[in-house]
Amino acid sequence: MKKILVVGIVLAMVVTASVIVFAAVPALTIPGVNAKDDLPKGCTDCHVKASDSDRTILAGMKALIASGKHPKAADSMVDELKDCYTCHKAGATAGTVGSVVHSAHFTGKDNAFIKYYSGNCTWCHSVDLTKGAVGVKGK
Ligand code: HEC
Ligand code: HEC
Ligand code: HEC
Repeated sequence: MKKILVVGIVLAMVVTASVIVFAAVPALTIPGVNAKDDLPKGCTDCHVKASDSDRTILAGMKALIASGKHPKAADSMVDELKDCYTCHKAGATAGTVGSVVHSAHFTGKDNAFIKYYSGNCTWCHSVDLTKGAVGVKGK
């Protein structure tokens, strides 16, 4: 009888502790994982030609080139994601595509990607909920 009581108390403590650990983690909404993904195409869902301004990848790259932050390159080499792989690869001085795309979206004071798009990884990365594979949208 006593033994059962002790086991019961220990079990109750473990259950309470687990509930506290779960409760301490805030709930998160992750598009493409536990919520609808409104930007399934990735890059080209955001980088579009809007009525007020040209936000295409090409326009952004041309601005980087014009300001001297990116080496000169023909338009056809900086038009879309697949073009970046020509120069940006492992071991190259240009760095990998991942490193430059991440730095463009996560660094700098008041980065608009963080400010207006929550800095969400799954705006660019796809998650296959069957296989668990993480990829890059549109690649
Ligand atoms: C959810 C929207 C969103 C997605 C998806 C997105 N970007 Fe961006 N991107 C931005 C914003 C906002 C900025 C401006 C960041 C800043 O304040 O410097 C930016 C900046 C850039 C820049 C720097 C030049 C510029 O336009 O300011 C490049 C290059 C770029 N993005 C390429 C890409 C590529 C390639 C992909 C896909 C792999 C991608 N982006 C996906 C929103 C997005
Ligand atoms: C012709 C080769 C070439 C192509 C094509 C190219 N890049 Fe680059 N890029 C470079 C090199 C080289 C650097 C390193 C410049 C340095 O460190 O001075 C660089 C640097 C960058 C940087 C860092 C700039 C900064 O703010 O410091 C970004 C962002 C970038 N590339 C994005 C892209 C994207 C996105 C594409 C495809 C749309 C692309 N690049 C295509 C050669 C290229
Ligand atoms: C703006 C688009 C964009 C966002 C946002 C983004 N990634 Fe990426 N990520 C890429 C691209 C493009 C690659 C390059 C994939 C390839 O090599 O083909 C990449 C590659 C990676 C890689 C492979 C290693 C590397 O650096 O190349 C990891 C790990 C990764 N991302 C993690 C993350 C995490 C974690 C976040 C959120 C904090 C995130 N990414 C947000 C576009 C993005």
